[in-house]
Amino acid sequence: MPADRKPLISGNWKMHHNHYEAIQTVQKLAFRLHPDDYEDVDVSVHPPFTNLRSLQTLIDADKLPILLGAQHCHWEPKGAFTGEVSAEMLAKLGVTLVIAGHSERRQLFGDTDELVNKRVKAILAAGMTPIVCVGETLEQREAGETEAVVEDQVRAGLQGLKPDQVAGLVVAYEPVWAIGTGRNATPEDAQAVCAHVRAVVGDLAGRDAAEAVRIQYGGSVKPTNAAELMAQPDVDGALVGGASLDADDFARIVQYRHVT
Ligand code: PGA
Repeated sequence: MPADRKPLISGNWKMHHNHYEAIQTVQKLAFRLHPDDYEDVDVSVHPPFTNLRSLQTLIDADKLPILLGAQHCHWEPKGAFTGEVSAEMLAKLGVTLVIAGHSERRQLFGDTDELVNKRVKAILAAGMTPIVCVGETLEQREAGETEAVVEDQVRAGLQGLKPDQVAGLVVAYEPVWAIGTGRNATPEDAQAVCAHVRAVVGDLAGRDAAEAVRIQYGGSVKPTNAAELMAQPDVDGALVGGASLDADDFARIVQYRHVT
């Protein structure tokens, strides 16, 4: 990837780790990572909502260069939406990155492209960076629809954004069949789809935005495959689920450049 796109490696904890475990995991991660690592890579953790305040306090107190992220948010700033959390509430807790449209939200909780777009706009309005997830199912891949599906999701998810907003955000390409299965996309396949995402972004928001946007690959990223995925020219980072729960594994992914 070009030197001006700083890689972003994000740990999506999903519904794992209570706040005690979250504190231990981040303390251990901070112990494993060195100042050089943060210079080369942006590192974020995305715990469940209940852990955010504890991690904000830890990150502030110990001045850790780890970015605090969330996994989801509602698009309205407040209101009668039982069980939901707004982007503004997250921003107040020091959250700077929020995942929108993760395939589990799309498949299990009815997230649609239209709702993802509303969330993306709310995240930006609250001064945070969206990580917009896209990716095809196994059925769609086998039907040869990968590029078309991903293109539709990118166009719909980023609809109505200004080029400078697009330039600052993150798109995560996560093939659904690779999530939590231990089966990652090959580096060549990840590169091909990420390059396609960049081309679609270019068409939507112009060349400068396409050059600046960071594109993560996600789906069974592990310490053993991170380096070859990250070596691809259009892969600017990783969205890591299972392997981010363990501080040692996640640190080794962040340190992918040193893996021989
Ligand atoms: P995984 O999850 O690394 O466990 O495959 C990735 C994700 O869902 O973001």
